Amino acid sequence: MEKIVLASANQHKIKEFNEMLGGNFKILSLEDIGFNREIEETGSTLIQNAKIKAETVRNYLKENGKDYPVIADDSGLFIHVLGGEPGVYSARYAGSHDDQANRDKVLGKLENKLDRTANFECVICYMAKDTTKLFIGRTYGEITTEEIGDTSFGYDCIFFSSDLRKTFGEATAAEKNAVSHRSRAAEQLKKFLTPYNRNFDRTLKFNK
Ligand code: IMP
Repeated sequence: MEKIVLASANQHKIKEFNEMLGGNFKILSLEDIGFNREIEETGSTLIQNAKIKAETVRNYLKENGKDYPVIADDSGLFIHVLGGEPGVYSARYAGSHDDQANRDKVLGKLENKLDRTANFECVICYMAKDTTKLFIGRTYGEITTEEIGDTSFGYDCIFFSSDLRKTFGEATAAEKNAVSHRSRAAEQLKKFLTPYNRNFDRTLKFNK
C-alpha cells in the first residue's frame, strides 16, 4: 500500500484522512516518521501555511533518505462583514487556542450586524518529488447570535450551514462530512490520487 505522510500530529485528523482516502493509502503521522519539531505557521494565508507545513516535512524526509509524498491542510472561518476575519488566525483569534474565547470574540464583533454571512475554507497541499498541488474546499453559512448545539469544536456551534439548515454543532459527523470544507477539499485530493489522474497530470506537465 502506498504511504503518504499527513503533516499533523492530531490523531483525529489522521483517522479522518484515512477514512476519506478510502483505505487505498497508508497515512503516516508525524509521530510515525519521528518528526517532533514545532512547525511555525508564519504565513498570512491558508495556502502559505499549508505549503510551509508540507515543505518542512518533505525536507525532513529528504534529510532522512525518505521520499514519501506529504499532505498538509490548513482551515479557517471567514466572516464577510469582518473583512475575512478570523481567517488564517481562526485557532488563536482571541489570543490563545481557546475555542470558547474565540467564539465570544466573534459574537461580540457581530453584535447588531445584519450581514452575518461566512464561510469555512480548507486548503490541502499535496507535495511529492515532481508535483505540488493545492485543493480548496469551501462551505457557506451564517453566524448565529448564540451558541446552538455541541460546543466541543471550534466555531461549529455558531456556524449555521446553508446546506444543512442547522448549525454544525447540531449536525451528526456524517451530515457535517457531507458538506464540510475539509471533505470538499479531500474529495478533490482523492480524485487526484487515483492512478489515472496522477499520470495524466504528469503527462500534462511534460507537454508544457
Ligand atoms: P485547522 O487548520 O484545521 O487546525 O483549523 C484552524 C482553526 O479553524 C480551528 O482551530 C478552528 O478554530 C477553526 N476551524 C477549522 N475547521 C473548523 C470546523 O470544521 N468547525 C469549527 N471550527 C473550525
